[in-house]
Amino acid sequence: MIRNMYDKVGESVSFIKGKINRTPKIAVILGSGLGELANGLENKEYVDYKDIPNFPQSTVVGHEGRLVFGSVDGVEVLLMQGRFHYYEGYSMKEVTYPIYVMQQLGVKKLIVTNACGGINRDFAPGTLMIIKDFINLFGDNPLIGINDERFGPRFPDMSEPYKLEMIDKAKSIADAIDIPYKEGIYAGFMGPYYESAAEIVAIGRMGADAVGMSTVPETIAANYLGIDVLGIACITNMATGIQTGKHSHANVVDIAQRASSKLSAWVMKVIAEI
Ligand code: HPA
Repeated sequence: MIRNMYDKVGESVSFIKGKINRTPKIAVILGSGLGELANGLENKEYVDYKDIPNFPQSTVVGHEGRLVFGSVDGVEVLLMQGRFHYYEGYSMKEVTYPIYVMQQLGVKKLIVTNACGGINRDFAPGTLMIIKDFINLFGDNPLIGINDERFGPRFPDMSEPYKLEMIDKAKSIADAIDIPYKEGIYAGFMGPYYESAAEIVAIGRMGADAVGMSTVPETIAANYLGIDVLGIACITNMATGIQTGKHSHANVVDIAQRASSKLSAWVMKVIAEI
């Protein structure tokens, strides 16, 4: 009987390898409204999450749930269309399960994107922010529990959660193709409610420039698994108390969609040159 996580992941990976004979070295996770990148991939093949043994299933309406294998300028890419959020009720292990699968498929680098709220007043809706570091406010993390050394070490280093080499690459490409960007620290908040104004003041004082409900679990797992991470956040709104008016998911998705082609062009170049 298959019981431990390593065997479960192995089963998922065997299934995927049985369907798709490709070895992506880089993976991308797309945030809400940032799906455009999929259109730019060549030679696409799909695997639905629902068909993969042991894989969690998407619950958010409108989020697709599938892996897309494709290529950009000859570079093999694995794209996650639909991610798992902690606020949906998944455990941290479920949220990050796909990252474990990526590692076992041979993925070495991961680009994570998201839609988030801006705390830094130099930002505005539509700003793209390279994530320099994170603050984990989930009160949980995916590495809690018995450690399996076959995945990674018991006490992983987290001094460079977003790989400087990848950040430098992303910056020089953005400059070359004229994409404006900011840099900052991303705080991961449990959600699913948009933070209170007092929480935003507190999170800002902690040093965060932006806040969102994803990315941190995947970043922690990837670092543990030896996968280098680049994070790019799309500021879709200013956080509670900084912007007047109420938040809406429709607005978040609308602003993200508007930034999507810019982000997609940027990420495609990063993939091609990495
Ligand atoms: N807070 C948290 N998550 C978000 C926000 C926000 O203001 N905007 C988009 N995702």
